[in-house]
Amino acid sequence: MFSGRADFFFAAIRTGCVPASARKRRFCPEMLIFVSVKQRIIMEKQCVLVTGGAGYIGSHTAVELIAAGYDVVIADDLSNSDLRAVEGVRRITGVEVPFEQVDCCDREALGRLFRQYRFDSVIHFAASKAVGESVHEPLKYYRNNLTSFLNVVELMRATGRPNIVFSSSCTVYGEADAQPVTERTPRKPATSPYGNTKQMCEDVLRDAVAAYEGLRGIALRYFNPIGAHPSALIGEQPQGMPQNLVPYVTQTAAGIRECLSIFGDDYPTPDGSNIRDYIDVTDLARAHVAAIRRMCGGARRADYEVFNIGTGRGVSVLELVRRFEQVNGVKVNHRIVGRREGDIVAIWADPTLANEVLGWRAERTLDQTLASAWAWQKHLCGME
Ligand code: UFG
Repeated sequence: MFSGRADFFFAAIRTGCVPASARKRRFCPEMLIFVSVKQRIIMEKQCVLVTGGAGYIGSHTAVELIAAGYDVVIADDLSNSDLRAVEGVRRITGVEVPFEQVDCCDREALGRLFRQYRFDSVIHFAASKAVGESVHEPLKYYRNNLTSFLNVVELMRATGRPNIVFSSSCTVYGEADAQPVTERTPRKPATSPYGNTKQMCEDVLRDAVAAYEGLRGIALRYFNPIGAHPSALIGEQPQGMPQNLVPYVTQTAAGIRECLSIFGDDYPTPDGSNIRDYIDVTDLARAHVAAIRRMCGGARRADYEVFNIGTGRGVSVLELVRRFEQVNGVKVNHRIVGRREGDIVAIWADPTLANEVLGWRAERTLDQTLASAWAWQKHLCGME
């Protein structure tokens, strides 16, 4: 994209420095030569590469980054995602977000992307994420999740890009001894190859940041992301049979699935079903903006930090299904079946560190989130 100094200068202005409002009004880039030096320095720090940005959490994060004033480049191989998500991001934000179809395991292609765009920060979502599949195809998970992450970190080091946010998971805690879990809760051995790749990538990031001057990293440990953007223009799009609870609930309510199976009501919890910390995906997306701000703003305690991103509230499977029915006025056929292999009994977050240090907290209520999940399902089915 950049050939020659003048091209570089104007392309940098176009891709990195032009506020969305200006671009929409078709400002002549030359006019921006007159912005003050201070403004340019601030603006030049504002481009973020979002790998896996056509996916569920990635697309919502792209929206929140743009809303917060960042420029975004989305890279995705579309193996488990859809270009419609990128279109949704563009419609919500009114910004022609650049999209590049790139497999992060392809080092050459990823290297070209690093040469093509000016960004200082990377949010790395691109990964395989089905816990059950990872048990049956561990090598696919180790190759995909580790290779792509190593490529990104190596290229960041080689090209001097300082800030990375890694998409980690509360799965790294396994079956913790006490709830809620804090970042100091010891990680237990992973219960799946997927979980193991999250632990391994966290360790890679910790060690790389310790070894390489100028590299900074934040691992965000997500609890259970659910819901959709309030516009119902982006949301979760499971391919085939949904593996996670909420898409199965919405598809059952819409009549696509006959009956939701609830995996066990004999756990040692108040109603016998598992307990999780369900976090609205737009709240989760804003946590990434807070992490990028922290790294760009230089307010870090250490060059590698870890944060729990949850609500702090545990909700049982049965409670969630009941609330979904009440909030949306629909019926979800369900039956109790046996436990699902590998499920932990209960986990929820202590999000105090993220609240205090990142200045972030979950804001949307469970009811708002369940309403957004249903609105998105109706949008997908053309039911509005
Ligand atoms: N559940 C059902 N029926 C279903 C699907 C799920 O009863 O059809 C139950 C599960 O047994 C569990 C709860 O709903 O108790 C939540 O299950 P999900 O599959 O939605 O989520 P998990 O907690 O199993 O896993 C999620 C993410 C993982 C992540 C993990 C961290 O899918 O990527 O949280 O704990 F690693």
